[in-house]
Amino acid sequence: MNGLLPGRPVSLWMATAGTTGYPALDSDVDVDVAVIGGGVAGLTAALALKRSGQTVAVLEAARVGTGVTGHTTGKVTSLHRLAYTELASNHGDSTARMYGQANQAAVGHIARTVAEEGIDCGFRRVANYTYAESERTLELVRAEAEHAARLGLPSTFTTDVPLPFPVKGAVRFDDQAQFHSIRYLQGLARSVDGGGSFVFEESRALSFRDGSPAIVTTETGTVRAREVIMATNVPFGDEGRFDTRCYLHRSYIVASRAEGPATDATFIGADEPMRSILTAAIDGAGFVLAGGEGHRASDSGDPASRYGRLAAFARERLGAGEPAFRWSTQDVMPVDGLPYVGLLSPEAKHVHVITGLRKWGLTNGTAAALILTDVLSGRNNPWAAVFDSSRSAPASGNSPLPGAAAPAQADPPPRGLTLPPPGAGTVLDLDGGPVAVYTDPGGQVRAVSAICTHLGCTVGFNSADKSWDCPCHGSRFALDGSVIQGPATKDLVARKVVAQGEEPRAGQPE
Ligand code: FES
Repeated sequence: MNGLLPGRPVSLWMATAGTTGYPALDSDVDVDVAVIGGGVAGLTAALALKRSGQTVAVLEAARVGTGVTGHTTGKVTSLHRLAYTELASNHGDSTARMYGQANQAAVGHIARTVAEEGIDCGFRRVANYTYAESERTLELVRAEAEHAARLGLPSTFTTDVPLPFPVKGAVRFDDQAQFHSIRYLQGLARSVDGGGSFVFEESRALSFRDGSPAIVTTETGTVRAREVIMATNVPFGDEGRFDTRCYLHRSYIVASRAEGPATDATFIGADEPMRSILTAAIDGAGFVLAGGEGHRASDSGDPASRYGRLAAFARERLGAGEPAFRWSTQDVMPVDGLPYVGLLSPEAKHVHVITGLRKWGLTNGTAAALILTDVLSGRNNPWAAVFDSSRSAPASGNSPLPGAAAPAQADPPPRGLTLPPPGAGTVLDLDGGPVAVYTDPGGQVRAVSAICTHLGCTVGFNSADKSWDCPCHGSRFALDGSVIQGPATKDLVARKVVAQGEEPRAGQPE
């Protein structure tokens, strides 16, 4: 237990992966392609480009796999809950078929890469199910199974679902997979680095300049390249205006120790509240994972309750014990349901973007990387048009991210100087603007500006992860203001707070 919350606040994958130790960029390097972001999309593209004879430099702000890819469930599948009936309804069968083919190809590409590069990441083939617990969703999964089969995907409807609680039926996709996401990325990075190509860690890209060459700048060096790929979940800068075409979705996972072998199946529910279920075996230890409790990042999270509900579900429905690990993630959801791959903006010449990978970044990110590899190698790619980053209007009725044109305030910060109790944080409205104030368990006050350094929204306190999170485009900051996750590239600046009768208190790094 950690305070009132169950489990260590770290993803199972991060807790069980060794660390990497690639150097930071400390000079100027020249390569064919600069890749910003050491997640699945960036590293897959980097390795595919290297294999095609190009030199690459990957710039990772932290360590390989510590971003969104290290916070997934580890499912590698083209069955995306009920995606095919929805995509076909919004875009037509041809687009839905292309989406499915791209994701199926991604499953195959990952399997081949694991074998060819000898990556020890627990990759194993499983069936993946979208299950129904009600009569209403039974009809939905039946329709999804039939539609996906018509599109040529490995889909069947079944009432034989290997879950420990009763369900009415499910879509089953055969020959899908799961793996340890960070160990996979570490294997990719090993193959990328060397022979004129590089992986740089602790090297946050701060800016880029389009042109010939294109230039990406970090604090301690630059990468000059013919082309740049930005694979940072949310692209930084606002050139592409993806904030008007995507929204951020936050979801939560708990993992408990489990006895017995891992099941050869992964699951997601078609009912609400949605639940994602799988088992995993890591170095001889078994785990059962339960995910869900998703919400728009702009909505109030109450993460403690959400983790509590997932822990109760794991206990009551899956027979799991108390969670050993808990973590959350933020996914970029395109409002029309299709990822964005291609030039960053209509004006861009050599800067390309991968974003909007939905909640299925392991396969969508791999497919996106293969599309860009073909484009940058002068080859046609059959799926490029479907994922085209220059397409316009959203097809669905979802509203865009807040803070698109003018940065929005999530909730007006409270006025006054009541400091939060130990272990809590709040935003205070002080002269000079809102201040994010945290009181640590020892009573030490840490204060930083509450104005997000991306586009100026006001951050809010994440009580489960003890971080300052921006509701607009998902930037996250540590209690000392340092960037955990972009698109922000600059830290929140330290501020001083003064409670009545006290000397000024400055923020102090934790
Ligand atoms: Fe964009 Fe904060 S304003 S992430």
